This record gives sequence, structure tokens and C-alpha cells, in this order.
Amino acid sequence: GIIPVILSGGAGTRLWPMSRQHFPKQFLPLTGQALTMLQATLARLPDASAMGAPVVICNDAHRFLVAEQLRQMGNEPGQIILEPVGRNTAPAVALAALEQTASGSDPILLVMPADHLVSNVEAFQKALEEAVSLAEQGGLITFGVVPTEPHTGYGYILAERTQEGLGASVKAFVEKPDQATAEDYLASGDYYWNSGMFVFRASVYLEELQQHAPDILEACRHAMASTQVDLDFLRVDREAFTACRSESIDYAVMEKTSRAVMVPLEAGWSDVGSWESLWSVGKQNGDGNVAVGDVMTVGARNCYVHSNHRLVAAVGVEDLIVVETSDAVLVMHKDRSQDVKEVVARLKAEG
Ligand code: GDD
Ligand code: MG
Repeated sequence: GIIPVILSGGAGTRLWPMSRQHFPKQFLPLTGQALTMLQATLARLPDASAMGAPVVICNDAHRFLVAEQLRQMGNEPGQIILEPVGRNTAPAVALAALEQTASGSDPILLVMPADHLVSNVEAFQKALEEAVSLAEQGGLITFGVVPTEPHTGYGYILAERTQEGLGASVKAFVEKPDQATAEDYLASGDYYWNSGMFVFRASVYLEELQQHAPDILEACRHAMASTQVDLDFLRVDREAFTACRSESIDYAVMEKTSRAVMVPLEAGWSDVGSWESLWSVGKQNGDGNVAVGDVMTVGARNCYVHSNHRLVAAVGVEDLIVVETSDAVLVMHKDRSQDVKEVVARLKAEG
């Protein structure tokens, strides 16, 4: 079978003040639509009967948010794996793979972040189909997106299509290169962005982890050896999991494995990592403004204005991001979208 594995442990600090520690972005309907990002992730899966119930991996603090949002989708509850602390994605995926193989089965895992947008679902499902058949042959499949800027927050993939039907074999995978390298990659035209979604057999991932990061596998095995079942929740052992090294799947496995295969993805994929990215994927009016909620613009240009509780009017301003919530308002230049992190860090420091 095929099991969707949804990674939902991130904090999404660059989307403050809507994304909060206790209510991160994946649980919000950020684009002004009905579904939250987590729900949209499930909704874009093919409803093939071959697809098993989803596994969601999240922080213990978010368990009721996840359970409730799955319930609203009418999803079979599936399994919700609770992490006592975040240890990044390599351990999170390991927990899912260990849980799935515990009973002796070895399904194909579709690993998906809970906080991405895909506008062309049909194209996405087609790429998924190709990825599943490649994963059945033992590959670790990534999805490559044609880059449009030298973004340093992404993984970059150099891949070469060898034979029809075999995907493109990955020659190099470089996670979060520095600015100069990212610029070279973009200029070369040979690199793709890693979308952050993966498809592989559970056992294939565990084998690669054993080879490239055995300490992570060991710690996760320990954490899974004494789990606690609580309603639909599977709580991993706090002490054992806390002892695990924090590392992303990209650094721990994808940069090192020789079994990576890339499937190109042209499906309007976007990692809505910042307010600027929500502006660029949003519905822009003639002046380039994106308005969500009760918003009025007069002679404003290229602004993103998001209101939750009251009317927000923007007059004669350009390239601004304005986000209104009940207890905080963000006003920021669009080019400084990455710096919201600073606000969150300062708030944290001030307690
Ligand atoms: N359960 C769990 N536990 N989930 C986690 C954890 C964790 O400790 N840490 C992160 N996640 C989830 C996030 O919520 C997100 O959905 C996904 O895993 C990826 O984590 P990010 O922190 O958003 O990774 P990134 O954006 O820096 O980089 C990844 O995604 C890029 C594309 O968006 C990498 O895969 C890059 O190579 C890729 O280009
Ligand atoms: Mg991300």
C-alpha cells in the first residue's frame, strides 16, 4: 500500500503574527480559502483506494488541532505520532517508517510537508504516480521544481534523465547553499529546487538512515520501543527522543544517498514560507495588491494586506505587507519578509 506521511511539526515563524507557537501556519487557512494548509495537503492526494490512512507527525502540543482538522476532513483517523520535542525531519520520518514496518509490512511512504501550496493538483498527482513506480524499484524520490530565484532556503538538485521511465538520477543534492552558490546554480540552468516532498519504501529510508546517520536511527528505535498509546495518538518516549540529534532529512540522507531519483514537478508548487510568497501566489488585482479579509486599497500598489478582525485601509503605499490580528499588527516592507523571524526571536527573549 501507499501511506501519506504528513510532516506537521514546523513553527512557521516567518508568518507571524498569524502563525504562532501554539497555532502554526499549517493549521491556518492562510490563502483565505476554506481549508487549512494541513487539510489542503490531504485534499490534494489522489483518492485511490490504494492509499492508506494518513500518518501525521506533529508536536505533542498540537495534537488536538491535528485530530480535529483530520476529523473535519472526514478522514479515517490514521495515526497521529506525537513528538515531545522537535528534532527536525530526519527523525520525524524515521518514526513514521519504524511505526509502519513494526507489523512486518513495508509500504511506500509519501512524505509531505503540511505547509505547501500546489495549484495544479492534476499535474501533482501525475508526478506522484511516476514517483510511486520509481519508489517501488527502490529509489528515494524527490520532486524537482524549476528555480526562479537564488533562494538560499531550499535544497538544489542536479539531475540527469538517463532512460525513459527511470526518472532523472540525482548527481548532486545540495541543501541550503550560500548566496553565491545559489546564484551559480540558477545561472547554470542545470539545477532544480527540492520541493521537500519524498516518496520511498519505508525500509529503503531506514536502510539509508542506517548507512548515513545510524545514531538517528538508533535514537528513534529507542523512542519507538516505549511508546504510549492515547486515543488515536502515539506518543514516543520523551527521554529517548530528546536524546536524538536534530537534523533534516535533506542533510542526513538526501545529500548523501546514491539512490536518489528526481521527478520534475510543474504543478504550481510553492512553499509559502513568508508573507512575500503569499503575496506572489495570491490573487493580485490590477494594481498588484493582494487583499485577504476586510481590506480597502486606495492608490496602493503591490501590497499584501490581510485583515482578520477589522477593516484595514491602505492608501498610497507601495510594496507593503500589512497583517492585522486581534493582538498584533505587522507592517513591513515586502523585501524584508525574511526578517519577521527577528520579531519572534525578540518576543521570545523578552518572554
Ligand atoms: N513532525 C515534524 N517534526 N515536522 C517537522 C519538524 C519536526 O521536528 N521540523 C520541520 N517539520 C516539518 C515542517 O512543518 C515542514 O512542513 C517540513 O517538515 C519541512 O521543514 P522546514 O523547516 O519547512 O524545511 P525547510 O523549508 O527549511 O527545507 C525543506 O523544504 C524546502 C522546500 O520547501 C528542505 O526539504 C529543502 O531542501 C526544500 O527545498
Ligand atoms: Mg519549509
